Amino acid sequence: MSHTRLYLQAPRALAVRIYDLLEQAFEEDGLALSICVADEADDVHEVSVYALDQASDVKARISAVLKAIPQAPEIAEEVLPEIDWVAHSLQGLHAVRAGRFLVHGAHERHRRRPGEIAIEIDAGMAFGTGHHGTTSGCLEMIERVVGRENPRNALDLGTGSAVLAVALAKLRPMAVLATDIDATATGVAQQNVRLNAVFNRVRVATAPGFHHPEIARRRPFDLIVANILARPLMRLAPAMARHLKHDGSLILSGILERQRRAVIAAYSGQGFRHVTTLSREGWVTIHMKR
Ligand SMILES: C[S@@+](CC[C@H](N)C(=O)[O-])C[C@H]1O[C@@H](n2cnc3c(N)ncnc32)[C@H](O)[C@@H]1O
Repeated sequence: MSHTRLYLQAPRALAVRIYDLLEQAFEEDGLALSICVADEADDVHEVSVYALDQASDVKARISAVLKAIPQAPEIAEEVLPEIDWVAHSLQGLHAVRAGRFLVHGAHERHRRRPGEIAIEIDAGMAFGTGHHGTTSGCLEMIERVVGRENPRNALDLGTGSAVLAVALAKLRPMAVLATDIDATATGVAQQNVRLNAVFNRVRVATAPGFHHPEIARRRPFDLIVANILARPLMRLAPAMARHLKHDGSLILSGILERQRRAVIAAYSGQGFRHVTTLSREGWVTIHMKR
């Protein structure tokens, strides 16, 4: 199945406004959206919407949303190649160590050392090979928090490849719900759950934010881990508070160093207190408690 990336470029403030409008417009569809810096010096930010096979419909809907914006940027599109680029590039990547975890592809099973917890990841088209500072920061934080608190019931929101859900289930016998807004990611997540033989502990579901009956059924959680971006995390703060047990732990990542204070402030307003922050490659992973 081919994917099309529909994207547009704009200065930061406008790009964020467009991202917010598109997020509202596509909330029910489960389409993946992203916003990233294309050129920091020239203040160029890029907003992307990933369409599966209905790219022209999605493009028409983006155009309709952009009508609300004077001098809206043009929508460009690129058909993403059928090649499984993440898995392809994994062949050239080394296994990654984060705390006691070793995250590796099938070709590096032999690198596991005694005492390490191996997580085999076939990343497919989902994010999360352990090579990104947000993932490795989350893995280290998970090891610390789970070691101290022994949670029984965890949610990995924005699971991508399921790397963090697998890590949780391998650390302790706990029930883990792994969710992602993107159905391609949850397909990959499900494969990795099987590959790591943790299917009796980890359930995977496609869900935007907290909108899924299984989340409602399992709440409140002892631990929630969410490696998404700062803005959606700030928006989710009230819902996080509603879904976490009193004295439960929250691990947040996908946050740039300069966004750290704003995220902590959004969560403090919901009764959370900051416990500790880890910094990895310009990204921070924050542990908070309620
Ligand atoms: C940076 S990746 C993290 C993947 C993995 N958890 C890791 O740590 O490597 C973020 C993931 O969150 C998902 N995501 C973004 N916004 C979401 C939302 N509102 N609800 C659920 N998933 C979301 C994306 O589709 C993506 O797979």
